[in-house]
Amino acid sequence: MLVLGIETTCDETAAAVVERHDDGRATILSNVVLSQIAEHAAFGGVVPEIAARAHVEALDLIIATAMAEAGRDFGALDGVAAAAGPGLIGGVIVGLITAKAIALVHEKPLIAVNHLEAHALTARLTDGTPFPYCLFLASGGHTQIVVVRGVGDYVRLGTTRDDAIGEAFDKTAKLLGLGYPGGQRVEQEAARGDPSRFNLPRPMLGRQDADFSFSGLKTALRLEAEKIAPLTDQDVADLCASFQLAVIETVVDRLRRGLKVFRQRFGAPSALVAAGGVAANQAIRDALLNLASQDQVALVVPPPSLCTDNAAMIAWAGAERLAHGLCDALDTLPRARWPLDQVGKPLPTDAGTAGVSPAIACPPAGRAGGRDARGPGEPADSVSPNTAPSVVA
Ligand code: KG4
Ligand code: ZN
Repeated sequence: MLVLGIETTCDETAAAVVERHDDGRATILSNVVLSQIAEHAAFGGVVPEIAARAHVEALDLIIATAMAEAGRDFGALDGVAAAAGPGLIGGVIVGLITAKAIALVHEKPLIAVNHLEAHALTARLTDGTPFPYCLFLASGGHTQIVVVRGVGDYVRLGTTRDDAIGEAFDKTAKLLGLGYPGGQRVEQEAARGDPSRFNLPRPMLGRQDADFSFSGLKTALRLEAEKIAPLTDQDVADLCASFQLAVIETVVDRLRRGLKVFRQRFGAPSALVAAGGVAANQAIRDALLNLASQDQVALVVPPPSLCTDNAAMIAWAGAERLAHGLCDALDTLPRARWPLDQVGKPLPTDAGTAGVSPAIACPPAGRAGGRDARGPGEPADSVSPNTAPSVVA
């Protein structure tokens, strides 16, 4: 099953072609990512209007490059997948409408993919991780511990009560004058800093739930920085190292708790899986490895290029949904907000059987209109759920 994926929810314009084999294994045939860092750097963060316009300008070429690198033409595709949310709405519109146009012209099924589901399923793209597994989703907008029970079947065990983990990295970088994007810069500075110099709080440590909170840590860091301003290079490195250690100790405590709740409610997970841009952080990856070995659970962390935003994960999520007969109508709407637990799932095969329905043929997109195009799991009155990348400089 060959699927083209398109990702435009934030500041990366990306397209990829992924093949899902009948046994569930995957081959990434192409994975092209164009970062918009240069467009946004002067503003210290992503400017939604600039992002949307940059997606419009670049997307055609990025898709053509992905198809050429894969050595396939549109006619060979089994589906066209685009991230339909959550994200910056202008960019989401660009990607989804482009996918609809390709699907319509070439009569292919459209799959409107939830960006968070794509992060959640990446471990299956890279490692074929079986369900159920415990997901640590750590991105710029989300910090969650999730039970991944199947395609479209997610139970959230914990989430952040304020800032997302990537947001905390980005705000720390901004405060310390490290610029945008922040996470990677904080990690680089932390590598040459003293993590014990500043005694920053470990928010939520030891609590019974599996939630996170990062805004207090951010404030504590600001107060420490203000006390010793003006900052030397060593001060900045020490602040980054102390911040990163506080984040890591919090994450490990919260995940230990999340794994406990997982086992109590759902039995043993097949693995602890990390996903999202923050999972590209090597110090966090090392800490997860330690935790997993102490907790005697397998650890799956995709390579950094598949943790940060990319289109291979969108194509893969599209292929996984298509394999369950799930596809979407051409009037599917883009969504700025779209919680993971509102993603549609396949229906059980028989009443009372917790399986998934066998794959059905999605209608060709040219004829896919309204309710006929919904997947078998979608009730008629629900909202339709709708390797290293090539880096284009
Ligand atoms: O998943 P992602 O690429 O986009 C979203 O869906 O949000 O995650 C982006 C986030 C940003 O906040 C970025 O600063 C953070 O991931 N990030 C990192 C690292 N690389 C990216 N945070 C810490 N260390 C890194 N190496
Ligand atoms: Zn993301």
